[in-house]
Amino acid sequence: MVEEKEPVSPVMADLREMDLTSAVAVAGHPLHAMSVHFPIALVIGTLGIDVLYWFWGDPFFLRAGVWSAGFAFAFGVAAALVGTAELLLVKGIRSRVGSWTHAVAAMTLLAIAGTNWGLRLVAPEEVLPHGLALSVLASIFTGIAGWHGGKLVFDHGVGLMVSPDE
Ligand code: HEM
Repeated sequence: MVEEKEPVSPVMADLREMDLTSAVAVAGHPLHAMSVHFPIALVIGTLGIDVLYWFWGDPFFLRAGVWSAGFAFAFGVAAALVGTAELLLVKGIRSRVGSWTHAVAAMTLLAIAGTNWGLRLVAPEEVLPHGLALSVLASIFTGIAGWHGGKLVFDHGVGLMVSPDE
């Protein structure tokens, strides 16, 4: 028996034809995928530092938290600039709803990470409980943004660069 294929809508057919290749890469290595590890590690690291400060109360962790939160925000902004370039430059990326969902989650994460750093600069005495709460929220949004980013790569095949010889 011959299986009948489901009809594909013209919109989906058009979408499948669009280019998905990363536009911001160095020697065939997409920059966004390379840069996202830093904000992810630093946001989660800041949460770890806050928990240690809560536990031991050592001011060392307060100082470490300012730097960790600051670099989490700075590296997040850098990753977001590259991600935004991908989104705007590649038609197959900007035409996918998932790309915008990821961008909104990532921008929310950056707003929380920036607030977390600012709080530590101007009111270090507020780290417990407000800084800790912001670190928990930032970690949750890192998970949401990262999960949607991963879906773009692994489900949609966005941002890949397959060398012609392989
Ligand atoms: C407005 C800001 C952002 C935009 C528009 C954006 C856009 C994208 C796009 C288009 C991809 C698909 C791969 C590619 O084309 O490079 C992607 C992947 C990804 N993004 Fe973002 N991104 C943004 C910010 C961030 C931030 C701040 C993080 C860090 C939490 C992040 C985490 C990821 C992850 C984990 C992937 C999957 C990478 C992989 O597995 O190789 N993105 N993003």
